[in-house]
Amino acid sequence: MYNNRKSFIIKIFVILCLIYIAVHVLFSSGEPVIRELQQSGRSLAGLDGQNVDAVALMQDAAIQLTTSNASRVPQPREQLAEVKPSEAPPALKPEPTVEEKVKLITNCLDRPTVPKTQQRGDYWVLYNYVRAERTFKCEETVTYTTHADFSFMDNLVPLLERWRGPISIALHAPGTDFPKTLESIAHLRDCTSALVRELVTFHIYFSTKHVPKEVPKHTKVFEEPYNCSLTPPYLNVSSDQMYKAQKKLLYPVNVGRNVAREMAQTHYILPSDIELYPSPNISTKFLEMVATNVGPLLSKNPKVYVLHIFEVSANSQVPETKTMLKEMLMNGTALPFHKKLCPGCHNIPKAKEWQLAPETQGLHIFHVGKRNGRFIHWEPIFIGTHNDPLYDERLSWEGKSDKMTQGYALCVLNYDFMILDNAFLVHKPGIKVYKKDAKRAMLAGKTNQLIKKIIFPELKVLYGVRKGCAV
Ligand SMILES: *[C@@H]1O[C@H](CO)[C@@H](O)[C@H](O)[C@H]1NC(C)=O
Ligand SMILES: *[C@@H]1O[C@H](CO)[C@@H](O)[C@H](O)[C@H]1NC(C)=O
Ligand SMILES: *[C@@H]1O[C@H](CO)[C@@H](O)[C@H](O)[C@H]1NC(C)=O
Ligand SMILES: *[C@@H]1O[C@H](CO)[C@@H](O)[C@H](O)[C@H]1NC(C)=O
Repeated sequence: MYNNRKSFIIKIFVILCLIYIAVHVLFSSGEPVIRELQQSGRSLAGLDGQNVDAVALMQDAAIQLTTSNASRVPQPREQLAEVKPSEAPPALKPEPTVEEKVKLITNCLDRPTVPKTQQRGDYWVLYNYVRAERTFKCEETVTYTTHADFSFMDNLVPLLERWRGPISIALHAPGTDFPKTLESIAHLRDCTSALVRELVTFHIYFSTKHVPKEVPKHTKVFEEPYNCSLTPPYLNVSSDQMYKAQKKLLYPVNVGRNVAREMAQTHYILPSDIELYPSPNISTKFLEMVATNVGPLLSKNPKVYVLHIFEVSANSQVPETKTMLKEMLMNGTALPFHKKLCPGCHNIPKAKEWQLAPETQGLHIFHVGKRNGRFIHWEPIFIGTHNDPLYDERLSWEGKSDKMTQGYALCVLNYDFMILDNAFLVHKPGIKVYKKDAKRAMLAGKTNQLIKKIIFPELKVLYGVRKGCAV
């Protein structure tokens, strides 16, 4: 009896001690814990509602947690309510960051990168086959999305050095082009800039009629480090060394464009051609501009953000700033893109005024254009979002007009083309001149017929018509 009571008192005492310690711990560290939990809760919440399996979700959540603050540990919500029921007064709240503002304005959802092998029309696609080590929240930056075959991969490092953000690239690799493509990726990841591993995600695709002999699982691609004393496989490739040329295949440019675009993790994307190098710091300045949310940015119309494009002579430096670009335009070492090849194709509204305007701080909307009047066939390159129409996968690079059907859809949907003032793209040095290509001319004729007879009538049904819009 006596013993029982003694042990009862000891038990009570121990329990009281535990409660005291628990309360003490919660109150002294409660506030930071709440903030951390709210943040991690939000990034986890952004992952649901997507069509991915649970394992992929867990992996992605794990990556997010390890790459961000290590102290963010998800815990049950009820605990929060007990600790701190009242909100801090609004005056003490810090000004939201650019990222927080972009998240609020765009209402974007995070997009996990899941490797998957899937058919897409007549092609097999290895989505997210070689993934970048870093992952990104949808509001965090802008993804440069592009397409190529291995013979263009010498552009990747100069491009990355200027872009310094995520790149999503789809590579066409039929038959024996596939092993050369893998070697090229391995060389870039192991023997060049560390930015390649950090930022570039590679997708690969090939026709169902030209499946390579061997395709390793995405987990088994690069088992050994690449021998960096070997010549990079992507340098000085002549077209007759390529399977694509030997088999006379067309380049399915729009399959690549769409694959790369759909896999981008961020809300804002810059679908571009790999030889177009952006002026530095575009993504930071762009998101700062978006976060201001004033003026033409408030327009109810759907919007894209157009970049001017220039080319520079073969031995010139790629200009870093608009000021340097203007000097090069003055002394003739830089030209508006395709001025010699196809004057008019890349005309931009208010182009002369843009070239005269001095460089300013940050990024702004220089002019809001429409794809009509003199610009009825305009094929601009722009920062857009996942909501913009994709490209028609029946069109090839050789057949030309490969962006025209998207242009028509943008026109009918009444897009505003916001022309950016201090940012631009520069083509890899070397000014293109017109070369006669009988085969391409023939294919371009066929493509025009395909667009006129088949695709355009479809677009009219699907998107409708609007006065002043044409393919
Ligand atoms: C790497 O390639 C070089 C040049 O072909 C060769 O001499 C060297 O033995 C190779 N190293 C390894 C470890 O295979
Ligand atoms: C590629 O060609 C250029 C010029 O044609 C030459 O200078 C360079 O050494 C070649 N590179 C390789 C790896 O063969
Ligand atoms: C880009 O941003 C970096 C870091 O903020 C800065 O050092 C650099 O001067 C900027 N470059 C240009 C061309 O604005
Ligand atoms: C043209 O201007 C650029 C930028 O100022 C300069 O670097 C380049 O040397 C100039 N070239 C000629 C041919 O004057």
